[in-house]
Amino acid sequence: MANKILVTGGLGYIGSHCVVALCEAGYEPVIVDNHSNARASVLERLERLTGRELSCFDIDIRNRAGLETLLQREPCQGLIHLAAFKAVGESVAQPLRYYDNNVGGSVSLFDAFDAAGGGAIVFSSSATVYGDVEAKSLHENMPVQPTNPYGQTKAMIEQVLADMVRARDARSRGLALRYFNPAGAHDSAIIGEDPKDAPNNLFPIIVQVAVGQRERLTIFGEDYDTPDGTGVRDYIHVVDLAQAHVKALTVLLSGGFDAPFTALNLGTGTPYSVREVIAAFEAELSRKLPQTMGERRPGDVATLVADPSAAMAQLGWRAERGLEAMVRDAWRWAGAARQWGLWDEDT
Ligand code: WQD
Repeated sequence: MANKILVTGGLGYIGSHCVVALCEAGYEPVIVDNHSNARASVLERLERLTGRELSCFDIDIRNRAGLETLLQREPCQGLIHLAAFKAVGESVAQPLRYYDNNVGGSVSLFDAFDAAGGGAIVFSSSATVYGDVEAKSLHENMPVQPTNPYGQTKAMIEQVLADMVRARDARSRGLALRYFNPAGAHDSAIIGEDPKDAPNNLFPIIVQVAVGQRERLTIFGEDYDTPDGTGVRDYIHVVDLAQAHVKALTVLLSGGFDAPFTALNLGTGTPYSVREVIAAFEAELSRKLPQTMGERRPGDVATLVADPSAAMAQLGWRAERGLEAMVRDAWRWAGAARQWGLWDEDT
């Protein structure tokens, strides 16, 4: 009998790739998603990709009673918690909505999961918890000092999880995975980054420019203290990210960590600037992309790159795919999405 794993946000960008990786590893995902940022067609495409019928429930993570009822019907040994609002700028404009959904929802979810018997909890955190740190690479022991409400919610949920699993009668063990910059898509081009709302991130915006949905790319500043003056980030292929979640879950289920709570960076350790990412797309497409130089974006830092060594040491995991693969897979997915008319849908 395969271990059942509750996956909140399982129809989202990271979530859908985690569902595939879980199936490939012999787990049985139980998807919970309120469809706030996922198209209706994702489930059908996931079933086509995994070759199996998937359990999916339209439950909001703030619905504690609904979660408890679900967990009574579908006892899960593990939880991968991805559901969250995640736009930094929006979090500044609507902080209470972010605290209610992200933090309040996580408390309800963790409480329902623990009441149902607990188990292994993998939480989708973010490098944003490090805040504005001028460092060549970030290590997990660096201070958690987020500078925006979104990052604050991630830091708070890490603390909630840590306190829960450290309690005397704790029945769960927790792991927070601090993502750097997820990018790319599954090489089948059946799932990929497909936000219902307008994207904020560089990769999907470049794709919109490349397919003609957006007139040009604006580079947010070229006066940073970086090799070419543009922002430098640690882009990690979404399939590598998904496989890290499965690896983390497997280690947690086997009781593999000494401490009840751990936080690990998920990055490649390889820095790429905005200009280098654009150049990689132009090489893949064999054409120049329309672009203009703009002002810095409020809240941006010059460099955010992971020290990925702890995940290697504790999970035996490292990212395997580079920038070219992220660009190639993102572009193939864009072609497939447009062929199916996905981006014409309003659902
Ligand atoms: C990358 C670089 C921009 C768009 C965010 C969240 C983080 C995580 C990942 C959730 C920066 C530049 C971007 C554009 C540009 N999300 N850029 N023109 O800001 O590093 O991280 O997404 O966990 O929490 O903060 O990613 O892709 O928005 O920006 O020049 O139109 O691209 O200035 O240097 P970011 P991003």
